[in-house]
Amino acid sequence: MCGIVGFIGAEEAAPILLDGLARLEYRGYDSAGLAVYSPEDGLKVVKAKGRLRVLSDIVEGGKSIRGAVGLGHTRWATHGEPSDVNAHPHVGMSGRVAVVHNGIIENFAQIKEFLESKGVRFVSQTDTEVVAQLLEYYYRGDIMEAVTKVLHRIEGAYALGILCADCPDQLIAARKDSPLILGCGDGFSFLASDVTAFLKYTREVCYLEDGEIAVLTREGIQVYSHPYLQPVEKERHHVDWEVSAAEKGGYEHFMAKEIMEQPKAFRDTVFPRIQNGRVALEELRLSASYLREIDKIYIIACGSSYHVGMVAKYILEKLLRKPVEVTLASEFRYCDPLVTHRTLCLVISQSGETIDTLAALREAKRLGGRILSIVNVVGSSIARESDDVLYTWAGPEIAVATTKAYSTQLAVIYLIALRFAELLDTIGAVEYAALVEELLTLPSKMERVLENREAIQYYASIYFNHESIFFIGRNIDYAIGLEGSLKLKEISYIHSEAYAAGELKHGTISLIQPGTLVVALASCVPLFDKLVSNVVEVKSRGADVLGLTVESRGEIFQKTVDHVITVPDTHPMLLPSLDVIPMQLFAYYVALMRGCDIDKPRNLAKSVTVE
Ligand code: F6R
Repeated sequence: MCGIVGFIGAEEAAPILLDGLARLEYRGYDSAGLAVYSPEDGLKVVKAKGRLRVLSDIVEGGKSIRGAVGLGHTRWATHGEPSDVNAHPHVGMSGRVAVVHNGIIENFAQIKEFLESKGVRFVSQTDTEVVAQLLEYYYRGDIMEAVTKVLHRIEGAYALGILCADCPDQLIAARKDSPLILGCGDGFSFLASDVTAFLKYTREVCYLEDGEIAVLTREGIQVYSHPYLQPVEKERHHVDWEVSAAEKGGYEHFMAKEIMEQPKAFRDTVFPRIQNGRVALEELRLSASYLREIDKIYIIACGSSYHVGMVAKYILEKLLRKPVEVTLASEFRYCDPLVTHRTLCLVISQSGETIDTLAALREAKRLGGRILSIVNVVGSSIARESDDVLYTWAGPEIAVATTKAYSTQLAVIYLIALRFAELLDTIGAVEYAALVEELLTLPSKMERVLENREAIQYYASIYFNHESIFFIGRNIDYAIGLEGSLKLKEISYIHSEAYAAGELKHGTISLIQPGTLVVALASCVPLFDKLVSNVVEVKSRGADVLGLTVESRGEIFQKTVDHVITVPDTHPMLLPSLDVIPMQLFAYYVALMRGCDIDKPRNLAKSVTVE
C-alpha cells in the first residue's frame, strides 16, 4: 500500500526522498510525488503517474527541486484512478500545506461537501485532499491547533505526513491504524511507512502509536498525545537489520534472493531457540496450567500467513490434541467468533500491519482471548498489541510474494507445537527428540532442494504457457498446494486453484481436459497411494501431471506422472518446509518466462493496510 517518507535535515531533501521511495517501491504503487520547501522557491510539489523513474526524471534525480525538508509518497489508488492529479502530496487551495497519507478517510464525502459549501474547490478525487483542505480551513497561524482539529474530525485509518510552508523547520506526523515509524538522526529526522526507507541513514527509531502526533525537527522528535497535546516520552529502539538485507545483492529479483535465503532465515529463527536438545521459548509467558485450561486455538491471518495456519492446524491438533480453528482475518471480524478467556488466538503476520489481521486481533482481545502473535517486523502494530510475540528472524522481506517469511512462520509453528506438547505432556520423549533432531537438519535439506532449481526451471519452461493450473494434495500437502497456487497466480497471472485431492470428484474434475496441468503433491507418505489414484483419474482425462514427492517415493511416482520433483525425506510434520520451495521456484520461473514484473505484481501491495 502507499509508501510515505519525510525528511528534515541539512542536506537536499529530494534525492533522499527519492531514494527512500525507491526502497518502498515493493509496497506496490501506481504514482508518486514529492513536496519540498526552500526559502527561495517556497513549497514545490511534483507528482507523476507511473513508476518512480518518471518522477525522478522530471525532477532530474532531485536536483531541480531544492530544499532540506520534504515529503515523498508512492500511491496505491483507492479513491480515484491513478493519475498525476490524484497522486500525493495534496495541497490545500492556498498551497500552504502539503499532506501525504496512507489509509482511508472514511467520512471524506461529508467533509468534502462541508468544505465545498464554504467555497473550497477540490482538484482530485482522493479522500486525502480533504485532509489538506481541512487543515487550511482550520489554520489560523497555529498548525498544531489545525492538526488536532482535523484529527478530531476525520474518521478511518491514516498515517499522515504534513509540511506547512509557514513553519518549514518542522514536519508533522500522525497515525491511526496505519504504520508510521520515526527515524532519529544527528541533525536530521525521518518519518516513513517502513524502516527500510531510511535504514541507510539511521537505525534509531521510535514507533508512533495510534492517537499520537509527532513534530520532527533537525534537532529531534517530540511526540504529543491527541487531543490535549501532552508531551509523550518515547522509547527509542535500535533496528538490527542490515541495509544490504534490503538490497538485491546480485540477484535479478528480490524474490529469487529471498527464496535462496530461506535456509539461513530458518536457521536464524530456530537454532537460537533450541538449547540442549529442547525448545526454549524464553519470550513466552504461557504456563502449562494455562495451556491445560484452553479449550481451543484460533489461528487468524491473511493470504500466505493463513496458509501457514492451515499447516499449523494439522500439526497442532496432532501434537496437542486440542481443537484448532483457522480463519481468515477478514472473515473473523464479522463472523461473531466464539472466543472466550479459554481461547488462545495465534495471529500470524509478516508485516505486523495487515489491517484485517490487526482488527481481528483487537476483536479477539475484546472477547477475552489471549493473543500470541508470530510476526516478522519488530515493533509493528500486531507485535505491540499482542500478549506474547514470537518473532520470525527472516530479515526484511521486499518481494511482494512472500517466501522466506512464510518459511520462518512455519519454523515458529514447529517450535510452538513442540514446546506446547512438552508442557501438556502430549508427546513422548522419543518423538520429541526425533523431531528436534530433524528440525536441526532441515536447513541443509532446504539447501539440497534449492540446488535442484535448474530442474524446476526446466519444468517451468515446459508449462509456462498454460492458462489454468490445478494443485492437488491431501492433508499437509493440500495446505502446501494452497500456497503453491497462490504464489503462481499472484506473480504469473495464471489462473490456478488448489484442491484437496479427494474433493476433485465432487465437481472440479469436470474442468480437467487434455493438456490441463495438474501439480500433484504426494509427499505425505501414508496417503501416497490415495494420491496416486487421484493422479490416475486426472491423467485418464488427459491432464499433464507434474508430481512432487519425497526421494524415497520418487521412482515409483515417476511411473504415474509426467515429471517428478523430489525433496529429501524428513519427519512428515516438517515436510512443508521442503515442499514449499519447489512451489515457490516453479512460480518464480514461470513468471520469469512470461515476462512478469515479479517483485511488483500488478494490483498487489506488500503490506495491506486498508480493509
Ligand atoms: C502472498 C502474500 C500475502 C500475505 C498477506 C498477509 O505472497 O504475501 O498473501 O501473506 O497479505 O500479509 P502479512 O503476513 O504481512 O499479514
